[in-house]
Amino acid sequence: MSGWLTTRHIGVDTFANILIQQKPAAIPWMSRLLHEHEIKAVLELGTGSGAMTLLFGLHCPDKVVTADNKNILSLQTSALFRKLGITEFVIDIYENNNMRYLIDYISSKCACFENIHILVFCDNGNKHKDFELSRPYLKPGSLIVVDDCPEEFKPDTVDATGLKRLYKDELLADCRWSAWKITDNLNNEEDEKT
Ligand SMILES: C[S@@+](CC[C@H](N)C(=O)[O-])C[C@H]1O[C@@H](n2cnc3c(N)ncnc32)[C@H](O)[C@@H]1O
Repeated sequence: MSGWLTTRHIGVDTFANILIQQKPAAIPWMSRLLHEHEIKAVLELGTGSGAMTLLFGLHCPDKVVTADNKNILSLQTSALFRKLGITEFVIDIYENNNMRYLIDYISSKCACFENIHILVFCDNGNKHKDFELSRPYLKPGSLIVVDDCPEEFKPDTVDATGLKRLYKDELLADCRWSAWKITDNLNNEEDEKT
């Protein structure tokens, strides 16, 4: 564990009294990612218990969108979501054009800001699919963070064109995440117009 993390690691498995479906190190690591990369909005794929969503909501109030195909939120968590302006969708992310819809939705929340950086947290049923579906719509400066490496997501197999892998040496190993920064557009928008 890095020195920075050791000093901030609080060793709990709840956040806001809600069981977190992550390693305890997730809280300081995610706070660091959001802060260092000036993230102003978050799209979470896979809400689960909603504990990480609340962390996102505290960092980016009114600019968090989360989606899950089930709603297992407690009444207390739903109330906190409302207070933090978190938008929750109960949908299958892979159906229809839902990924595009979600990215457009979070982008519309940021429409009055220029060059806003979005973080997409892939913690859903199929991490490679989350990554591949979301990546084309993200602009430079935005981040993709993927959970459950290396079992469910193999960072070394990713086509890293237009991407920079972050913290590779530290690997975010305490959390089993890999993190990627968009460095170049894939120009999908242009392709779609032509
Ligand atoms: C590990 S949990 C998410 C945990 C949460 N992000 C956290 O860190 O606390 C994964 C969630 O993905 C949801 N999920 C799986 N497949 C899905 C799909 N196709 N569409 C939407 N949600 C899905 C599951 O219902 C489950 O709640």
